[in-house]
Amino acid sequence: MNSLVALVTGGSRGIGRAICIAFGAQGHTVVATARDAKALAETGRLVREAGGADSVVTCDMHDAAAIEAMVRTVIDRHGRIDILVNNAGGGTSARPMTSDETPDADWLDTLNLNLTSVFRTCKVVTPHMKSRRSGAIVTVASIASRQASNLSGIAYTAAKSGLAGLNRHLAKELGPFGIRVNAVAPGIIASERVQAKFDTYTDAERAAIRARVPLGRIGTVEEVASVVVFLASPGASYVHGTLIDINGGMFMA
Ligand SMILES: NC(=O)c1ccc[n+]([C@@H]2O[C@H](COP(=O)([O-])OP(=O)(O)OC[C@H]3O[C@@H](n4cnc5c(N)ncnc54)[C@H](OP(=O)(O)O)[C@@H]3O)[C@@H](O)[C@H]2O)c1
Repeated sequence: MNSLVALVTGGSRGIGRAICIAFGAQGHTVVATARDAKALAETGRLVREAGGADSVVTCDMHDAAAIEAMVRTVIDRHGRIDILVNNAGGGTSARPMTSDETPDADWLDTLNLNLTSVFRTCKVVTPHMKSRRSGAIVTVASIASRQASNLSGIAYTAAKSGLAGLNRHLAKELGPFGIRVNAVAPGIIASERVQAKFDTYTDAERAAIRARVPLGRIGTVEEVASVVVFLASPGASYVHGTLIDINGGMFMA
């Protein structure tokens, strides 16, 4: 495959970092963005170690102006964006809350980070892709796009479900421009964040979670990254507008 420019949001750790490393292993130029500059630098080092070229830009995805500036920096630096991975996100509250105890501010924050930031990023990246009549967008949705979230509350379920609709709509809109649009829906994946949460559970609680997964274990960040890389590759040239489940069979469409 020729070397491409891949922009990965939330590239400072977890699933996003694994995606950056996997694109690096393909020999791509990987632009990782997130807030933590030190962690981004470490992602950059790992991308180089994997065989890619690295480039990092800090950005707070809560901030529309910062997203615009980040994309402008990437275009100024590299001249194009071939692959966009919308990965930044997560539950914003410390523990899942019921709908009646979810403060408005938490709802808005969660929607802003997990859904609105993806809309805003696509809005500024797609004109560049359209002008080149090519590109691939992969969005990291969630099993919460399919069913109510157990770990992260109602706002997260609503935001990640919104991504499923955004994915379909963008696919319809951008397909005629040669831009492929897809999403993945990870189940329980052992990023540092989720592993730390998992480690606070009792043995019985962990066993109960594993029992809900037909493959009998939680997934790895690499098992998400490999599917994202596939969706962005020429091997997926006729895959468009889909949401691929990566959950060990925990939810089957
Ligand atoms: N792990 C799972 O089980 C699982 C399951 C389904 C879906 N997902 C989704 O997969 C994605 C990654 O999850 P993860 O488990 O790898 O989470 P993580 O380890 O917490 O990583 C989240 C990433 O998003 C970035 N981020 C968070 N808030 C940001 C902000 N305001 N501005 C810019 N970047 C921000 C973080 O970087 P900084 O803190 O440096 O900004 C970090 O790089 C999320 O969208 C999550 O919803 C995860």
